[in-house]
Formats: sequence, structure tokens, C-alpha cells
Amino acid sequence: MKALVLAGGSGSRLRPLTLSMPKQLIPVANEPVLRHCLRNIRAMGIRQVGVVEGEHGDQIRAALGDGAALGLDLTYIRQDTPAGLAHCVRIAAGFLGNEDFVLYLGDNVVVGDLAGAAEEFRSSRPAAKLLLAKVADPSQYGVAGLRADGNVRAVVEKSPCPPSDLAIMGVYFFTPEICAAVDRISPSPRGELEITDAIQYLIDAGGTVSAQPFTGLWKDTGTVEGLLACNRLLLDGLPPNIAGVVDAASVVHGDVTVESGARVTRSVLRGPLVLGAGSVVEDSVLGPYVALGPQCRVRKAVVRDSILLGGSVVRGGPPVTGEISNGRLRVTAPATSSAEDRSAS
Ligand code: G1P
Repeated sequence: MKALVLAGGSGSRLRPLTLSMPKQLIPVANEPVLRHCLRNIRAMGIRQVGVVEGEHGDQIRAALGDGAALGLDLTYIRQDTPAGLAHCVRIAAGFLGNEDFVLYLGDNVVVGDLAGAAEEFRSSRPAAKLLLAKVADPSQYGVAGLRADGNVRAVVEKSPCPPSDLAIMGVYFFTPEICAAVDRISPSPRGELEITDAIQYLIDAGGTVSAQPFTGLWKDTGTVEGLLACNRLLLDGLPPNIAGVVDAASVVHGDVTVESGARVTRSVLRGPLVLGAGSVVEDSVLGPYVALGPQCRVRKAVVRDSILLGGSVVRGGPPVTGEISNGRLRVTAPATSSAEDRSAS
């Protein structure tokens, strides 16, 4: 089995940050979302991975290289315009050949047993297998309606009247039948080739599309709220470790990770939080739920519930809260956001 990871798209909900970087490289708990995806793919026993990249492809390639460090063999596939998920499958036909594959959206963070789901797909081999998670706002997703036997009856994309509250997660298992289906569909009203339309094509042609309720954690990180919620959840599970230096005038509460070479002086650290390697924090109050990337400089600042990318500099100013920033460009969660957690239950 191969994997096809989608790392293109415009990241429109994360501008202006995504004007200069791809959303899939934004870190949560100090690890880029895309790396979380690739580790899960490796855990499914897959080595050959196609990475569909868009306008920031150079940064994706610089971050991942040939994949050897992750135990993977990566092939990059260029998508010139973000024309939909099914379009990505179309342009990857040469890489996919005649093999089964998992399609993995590079902005989805999943913590749970994907290897077991892959194993079940390998042995049962339906035309497609979907992972489903109950959500409060199904109109924001692809949604599946099920038959009495538990297989999928219909799928719709971001419909105002979805047939259920079961969202289709961004991890799909396919046999090569999907490659014929993506060639037969037309663009949706939003002008994209939708993977949901290709899946519906399989069903209409008499294929079996199976469904598995997912019991782990799932988050689509395409929004500020999604990224920050994911950051909180992953920081909650991070084992504390102080490898850097925290001076005697500083106070540490809760689970805190200070990576090697980081220095904290006259500050308060409220876990969960992580300070990246080589960062310097002085006279500041950080946390809870702060992920500070490597080589950041924070002085006389208050930061909570935020992601600061590597190399960020914060000096004084109003408290930084509910923000993702590289020190120059920042995106904030809307004030009304409920930062709802989309964990499957
Ligand atoms: C895409 C898919 C949608 C799926 C979602 C999962 O949506 O089109 O069917 O439920 O990913 O993350 P989008 O990337 O537009 O949010």
C-alpha cells in the first residue's frame, strides 16, 4: 500500500501567515502538522509516499527532504492550482500506479489506531473505506449517510442539510478504482473536483464503501481555532522535561518542557507548555498552552494559549493570547470562537 499526502492548498483561513508558509508546516506542540501525518503513515507500515505540494512546495521539500530520516521514500507531485482533493488523485495517477493507497490530508492531526484501520482495509478491500467522527457542525465537512449494514449509502460535501452528524475524516483508504472515478466527475459549484463526488461515483457504480467510527482524536488544523485546540491537546500529553536552564528567580507550575539550550530568567512558566531549543525568555509570564519554537526571544511579555514559530521575537506589548505568530505576521482566533474540540468520541 502507498500513501498520498496532500500538502498544497491555499491556507486561506490562516492568512497572512500562510502567504509566506504552507499551513501544513505550522507546528503544534513544536512539531509541524505534516510530520504528525508522516509518522502515522510510517506506523501503518507504508514506505512509499507521494506528497502533493503547491505554491510553497520548496519549503515542504526543504523540511522533509527525501523522507529517509522518517523511514519513508517521498515522491513530490506538483499541483499548480488548488483544484480539489480529487484533482490531487488525478495528477498522482502515475505515482499511484495500480496499488491500494491511503489518502491523507496534510492538515489533519490524528492520534489513535490508524494502523489497525489500515490492516482491516488491507484484509477486506472494499472499493473505499472512510473513517467517521461525530461532529457538532456537520455542515462544515464531508458527511456520510449509512445503510443498515453499516456501509456508506451516500456522501455529501459541506451541505446545509447533511444526512448525519458523521464527518468524513481526512484519512481515506482506496483501491485503484478511485483513479477511474476521479476521471469521471466534474467540478462542484465551488469549482473543485471533490473527493466526496468520486466516492459517490463508486457507490453509484455498485462498489462497497465501508465506514469505521474513529475512536481517537481528530483535528482539521485549517483554522486558528483548530490549530490552537490541537496544540492544547498535544501539550496536555507531552511528558515534562527541563533540559535547558531555568534560573532560581523563575517559577515553574505544572508540566513544562524546556528544550536543550533554552534559557529562562526571572520568569513564570505555567504548564502545559514547551520552549524550543535555544530560546531565551526573560522577565515574562508564559502559559498555559504555549508552544514556543526554537530560537525565540521573549522579553517582558505575557503569552498564553498561543503558538510562536521558531525565531519569533516578542518584546513587551499587550498580552499575546489565542494567537499564532512568527513575530512579524500573526493570526488570531475570532473573539467569539468556542475553540470547539473535534475529538471523536
Ligand atoms: C476536506 C474534505 C471534507 C473532509 C475534511 C476533513 O475539507 O473536503 O470532506 O470532511 O477535509 O478534514 P476542507 O479541507 O475543505 O476542510
